[in-house]
Amino acid sequence: MDWNAMAGPWLRAEAQTDAAHAPVLDELLRRAALSPGQHVLDIGPGAGISLVRAAEAVGPTGHVTGVEIAPPFAARARMRSPGNVTVIEADAQEVRFDSPLFDAALSLFGVMFFRDSPAAFANLRAAMEPGARMHLACWGAREANPYFSAPAAAAARVLGPPPGADPKAPGPLRFADAHDLQTVLTDAGWRAEIDTVDLDLTPMGGLEGMTKMQMTIGAAAGRLRMEKEAGRLTPEVRAAVQDALRDTLGAYEVAGEMRVPAQVHFVAATA
Ligand SMILES: C[S@@+](CC[C@H](N)C(=O)[O-])C[C@H]1O[C@@H](n2cnc3c(N)ncnc32)[C@H](O)[C@@H]1O
Repeated sequence: MDWNAMAGPWLRAEAQTDAAHAPVLDELLRRAALSPGQHVLDIGPGAGISLVRAAEAVGPTGHVTGVEIAPPFAARARMRSPGNVTVIEADAQEVRFDSPLFDAALSLFGVMFFRDSPAAFANLRAAMEPGARMHLACWGAREANPYFSAPAAAAARVLGPPPGADPKAPGPLRFADAHDLQTVLTDAGWRAEIDTVDLDLTPMGGLEGMTKMQMTIGAAAGRLRMEKEAGRLTPEVRAAVQDALRDTLGAYEVAGEMRVPAQVHFVAATA
């Protein structure tokens, strides 16, 4: 996936994604239980909300290093972060860290995009103190995650079925299969436990806010980009996809707020 190209839309949707993912980040940090003074690695921090929260947890005597592949995200994350954060622009799969070994690592939805996952997790393990813990949040099964399946279904109502995709290709659902995730981590030398949790995402701005967000990022937005590249995107097609999204996502509106069921694999791995 070309995260450099995707950074523009993602940064426009930053407030919405931060709000939607907040329950997952809270749970990830609760499990990571970071403590003052720790030196923490954050993998794929994007616009940086997890860096800000981890920096609070480790305090002024600790440090958080973000490793982020896309320069526009790295720039935004630096702008947003306090002084005890460094953001390195690099591929986590192969970077050699110019710093002491890390006491802990975390990632909010940042590890599903490696070209070679075993190589990436082995590289990350080499950067950790022996016995240090890495906590990850990865999306679970597609059918338990309408955050992905509902916009895809809405776009398909207008544009037809999407092109087939390899489930093991880099992408948000790369580790939907917890068994596969466990195998990859074990092969890379980690001792991993995976806890699969059902929770609700909390997108902001009600149904209109989430519809707008899904016109910017996600499966429907991706289909619209493909239509544009093929020279087929008309205002009518765009409006029809937006209407289909509003209609489909309406199922998740509760008293004017969005509550979108989700399934997340929380990984606790020991180096
Ligand atoms: C789904 S976004 C998650 C961003 C952020 N953690 C959040 O939840 O808002 C995935 C992030 O991982 C970054 N990323 C993808 N592959 C990477 C790699 N090989 N090394 C470092 N960062 C990577 C992307 O640029 C993007 O910022």
